[in-house]
Amino acid sequence: MSFEPSIVAFCCNWCSYAAADLAGVSRMKYPPNVRIIHVPCSGKVDQTYILKALEMGADGVMVTGCMEGQCHYLTGNFYTRDRVERLKRDLEKIGLGGRVDMFMMSAAMGREFAETATRFTEKIRELGPNPYKQVKQEG
Ligand code: FES
Repeated sequence: MSFEPSIVAFCCNWCSYAAADLAGVSRMKYPPNVRIIHVPCSGKVDQTYILKALEMGADGVMVTGCMEGQCHYLTGNFYTRDRVERLKRDLEKIGLGGRVDMFMMSAAMGREFAETATRFTEKIRELGPNPYKQVKQEG
């Protein structure tokens, strides 16, 4: 049986959520296993959100926000980009490397959202199931 990863995508209200919505209404295909969590700004997404998603069974987490210089709260996406980079380094040390990434896009980038979600899902499919989820299920 092939592995179907569960992906959580945090999407900011002003750009990336609109891009995901545009992808949906334009009938652009992206994997149905991407679950979108709507947040006011990517700056709202701190490490605990991402770790909780992994703990609760996500195989991969996408954090998406506005393009550089386009955040409606000015610097939210910059703070989160730095947080995500730090977290990626830490996750590498505990065997969860490659399962988290951040992507910036405008509201008009529905196609890019669909392509990014598809590429990220493929990458996670190649990594296999979140090993922490397996340990939790066995324990
Ligand atoms: Fe989109 Fe801040 S409002 S990243």
